[in-house]
Amino acid sequence: MKGVILAGGSGSRLQPATLVVSKQLLPVSDKPMIYYPLSVLMLAGIRDILIISTPDHLPLFRRLLGDGSRLGLRIDYAAQAEPRGLADAFLVGADHIGDDSVALVLGDNIFHGYSFSELLETAVADVQGCVLFGYPVTDPERYGVGEVDAAGRLLSIEEKPSRPRSNRAITGLYFYDNDVVDIARSLAPSPRGELEITDVNLAYLARGQATLVDLGRGFVWLDAGTPEALLAAGQYVRTIEERQGVRIACIEEIALRKGFIDADTCHRLGAEIANSSYGQYVMAIAKELVQ
Ligand code: TTP
Repeated sequence: MKGVILAGGSGSRLQPATLVVSKQLLPVSDKPMIYYPLSVLMLAGIRDILIISTPDHLPLFRRLLGDGSRLGLRIDYAAQAEPRGLADAFLVGADHIGDDSVALVLGDNIFHGYSFSELLETAVADVQGCVLFGYPVTDPERYGVGEVDAAGRLLSIEEKPSRPRSNRAITGLYFYDNDVVDIARSLAPSPRGELEITDVNLAYLARGQATLVDLGRGFVWLDAGTPEALLAAGQYVRTIEERQGVRIACIEEIALRKGFIDADTCHRLGAEIANSSYGQYVMAIAKELVQ
């Protein structure tokens, strides 16, 4: 399975913070926002990843993550000249996806929860149609909302419904089989001129091939697209990290635990930024896991 991180967009709700900086490079607590969606793909065992961003910001992502080899990944980059919608990722990324299945994650989404890696790997192992991830929220009218039967098969998807049929928001992580590229190609732009991900999901729903995995309570899903949400996400991450002494979305640690890199490499990556507590944590993890 290939991975795609959609890290373009206009970030208008975060202006002026995003006037010259990409939203997905702003810090959430101690690390750039893109570390969080990148770690989701890594936890799913996906090592071949495309980062899509604006032509202006793409060089910065490249400087940050390079070709991915330091983390045992392969990272490619593609420009989206205009924010043409989430489903445009499958047109921009068509070559990268090739004839594989694909996981799309939004660059400003943060997931954290127990056994997340197992949950993702199970989903990756069996993608027929599309697999969406639902999360209970108090304000479903602000989201795409999914209604499921007892087997988790989707019965309906509604975009920002005034009377939601369920409280399950559809999060910014989507797994698709290879048909997604053709489906995206066949879409007409919405009235606001975008290729809507909901239309892709509705196409799978019409085929009876859409599943919603319930992330449930005890799980955290945040997006960091507004000043309040960005601050809340940073506070959440810092609270957990301080209390438990573990890091959320430490990409070097995940690469080591997944066997993408060895402990020496991990230690070297930490040593490069040894003046920060993040770097010190990476070095400590490398030492701990070598034994
Ligand atoms: P949004 O938060 O919906 O849009 P945005 O980032 O442009 O922000 P704002 O609404 O404040 O102007 O996008 C969700 C994610 O998808 C985010 O990481 C940006 C990315 N995105 C793209 O890369 N290309 C697009 O065409 C769109 C619409 C979003």
